Amino acid sequence: MAPLTRNRARPEDDVPMALSAEYYAQRAIAGLLISEGTQISPEGKGYAWTPGIYSEVQVAGWKSVTDAVHAKGGKIVAQLWHVGPVSHDTLQPDGKPPVAPSAIAAESRTFDGKEFLPASTLRALELSEIPRIIEDYRKAAANAKVAGFDGVEIHAANGYLLDQFMRDGANKREGVPMAGRSRTVPASFWR
Ligand SMILES: Cc1cc2nc3c(=O)[nH]c(=O)nc-3n(C[C@H](O)[C@H](O)[C@H](O)COP(=O)(O)O)c2cc1C
Repeated sequence: MAPLTRNRARPEDDVPMALSAEYYAQRAIAGLLISEGTQISPEGKGYAWTPGIYSEVQVAGWKSVTDAVHAKGGKIVAQLWHVGPVSHDTLQPDGKPPVAPSAIAAESRTFDGKEFLPASTLRALELSEIPRIIEDYRKAAANAKVAGFDGVEIHAANGYLLDQFMRDGANKREGVPMAGRSRTVPASFWR
């Protein structure tokens, strides 16, 4: 089953609840379920009521989901998500601007719980912040294991953070060319 955002997490702490366990268990017969996009950090959130996988209580919520799916004979992987610029100040920690590879506005809309709004003015990530985000992905993957998922899928499409890093139109960062798709991280970063 393809990943489908449902906006059903508990509003105050982005925890998947009993309704999510019921929803995924009902679909266990699909065989392999990919979870809805699940933010790796508070900064990775772009829409109201989407679940996270960075806190203990969120991991416990997901455990009830994976248990319910496994009880019905299904498999489920967590889709790890950082929305990058597709967010709104009001959804970000301390009302800060959303982040992106470069300060180029995302022509996209976000949902703040009341209405769809244009994505907020964003800020370009400092190079020094990138290890923090990689660490957030690492922790989220480790949390997915604790939560009983059968694997993870890294969301790197649809104009979200990782997709933006791979697109010339959104990524104007300068650096030493690297092998592979990214050409923006200075070689010194990888040493
Ligand atoms: C309501 C809705 C929510 C979606 N949420 C996600 C999501 O969280 N993560 C994701 O990668 N794709 C998401 N998608 C995209 C779908 O997984 C799927 O790729 C898309 O609908 C195209 O499917 P198709 O190629 O089979 O037509 C969503 C699509 C819809 C309609």
